[in-house]
Amino acid sequence: MSAVFQLELDRHYPVVVRGEGAWVEDSTGKRYLDAMSGGSMAATLGHGRRDVIAAASAQASRLSYVHNERLTNPPREQLAAELVEVAPPGFTRVRFVTGGAEANETVVQLARSYHVERGDMKRWQVISPAQAYHGPTMETLALTGRPGLQRPFGPYLPRHLHIPPSTWRFDPTGQAALDALDAVLEEAGPENVSAYFCEPISAAALPAYSPPERFWRGLAERRDRHGFLICYDEVVTGIGRTGEWFAAEKLPLVPDVIATAKGLGAGYAAIGAVLCTDHVYQAFAAGSRKLTVGHTWDGAPVSCAVGLKVLEVLRDERLIERVRERGPSLRDELASALKGSPMIHEVRGQGFLLGVEYVDPRDGRSFLPPELGVARRIDLTAMEQGVIVYSTMPTRDGFAGDQTLFAPPFTTPDADLAEMVARFASTVDTVARDIERELR
Ligand SMILES: Cc1ncc(COP(=O)(O)O)c(C=O)c1O
Repeated sequence: MSAVFQLELDRHYPVVVRGEGAWVEDSTGKRYLDAMSGGSMAATLGHGRRDVIAAASAQASRLSYVHNERLTNPPREQLAAELVEVAPPGFTRVRFVTGGAEANETVVQLARSYHVERGDMKRWQVISPAQAYHGPTMETLALTGRPGLQRPFGPYLPRHLHIPPSTWRFDPTGQAALDALDAVLEEAGPENVSAYFCEPISAAALPAYSPPERFWRGLAERRDRHGFLICYDEVVTGIGRTGEWFAAEKLPLVPDVIATAKGLGAGYAAIGAVLCTDHVYQAFAAGSRKLTVGHTWDGAPVSCAVGLKVLEVLRDERLIERVRERGPSLRDELASALKGSPMIHEVRGQGFLLGVEYVDPRDGRSFLPPELGVARRIDLTAMEQGVIVYSTMPTRDGFAGDQTLFAPPFTTPDADLAEMVARFASTVDTVARDIERELR
């Protein structure tokens, strides 16, 4: 019996004992192809990278830890400088944290403080898309509009405002989302709104989905008109996942603040970062000259040394270019392997962030009945077949149904990518046959 308080008490958790490249092995010797980069999309360089481990070890021998409140350290300074270099134009400062939720919390604090610094004391409300995931802390749970995630924490959550996602099903042009944005701006009073906060390209919540261009342009117009900040959660998409350093580069507007995390430590260190544009920074420089709240491990030398090595590997091995070039054909290979299954509505892809959306095969459009538990069946069958994917079923929230995320390490050799696709297609085929029989 495990003494760990697991996330799901009825789930069997294989004990993973080692990993190499895109493979991990459990304590029974069973090997799995890791099509989810460590399960969370963090392990972008794959498992067992001796060069990253050596960089962490060398830094730990030199200086393992100092706090950031009164002291700084070379890897922290250098990593901030290198991130500013690869960020979209206009970003000039970086605050380190230890993960995605902390980065997003920091973004909310930074946005609010920016307005306070400028004497705009009323602005605090955040508007964000409802179908999203930003982390498990109270503030980040409040940034989604999903009752399924917020239950039972409702009484603790700040009241932020949400708009529905503009997906093919509800709003293919993005106009309904803009109308909803106008309605919540009106409801809050635009002078009370601090930020619009979103994933530029969704990860687990709506795999590889991004709103239509009309929405982004309309959002930028409203920022100009009303004076709120636009903040991107690039916890997953940042540091190469979509084939650019930041997914922001793929969209027709420059955000004011970006949060990133997973790929920065690539699974070798717990590190996240918040990057801000110079005009945001200048509000503090011209104002109180501080933004003081922080955590014990923010910008620690070993985590930052790992981040530096990750950036170096990405550059030296041209891995972001590989993701950009290989992503479209990987999406096509996945789509063609899944072709013919009436349970598949769409295979989406942005670099190595791929998403599969399932529908009820009886009409090719509705959500699958939740009691069928398709997402869970897909993941369990995939595990049996030796491939790790990540499926979700936020159906009861009303914005999306069963879906699977497929996000392999950037370093995965073509042969392993082909094997991942084959095992996943066989998984979907097995589950789809059962479902079609049960729905008959
Ligand atoms: C888009 C997004 N934002 C934030 C988070 C939270 O990151 P963390 O688990 O590091 O707190 C996640 C985690 O999956 C995520 O996918």
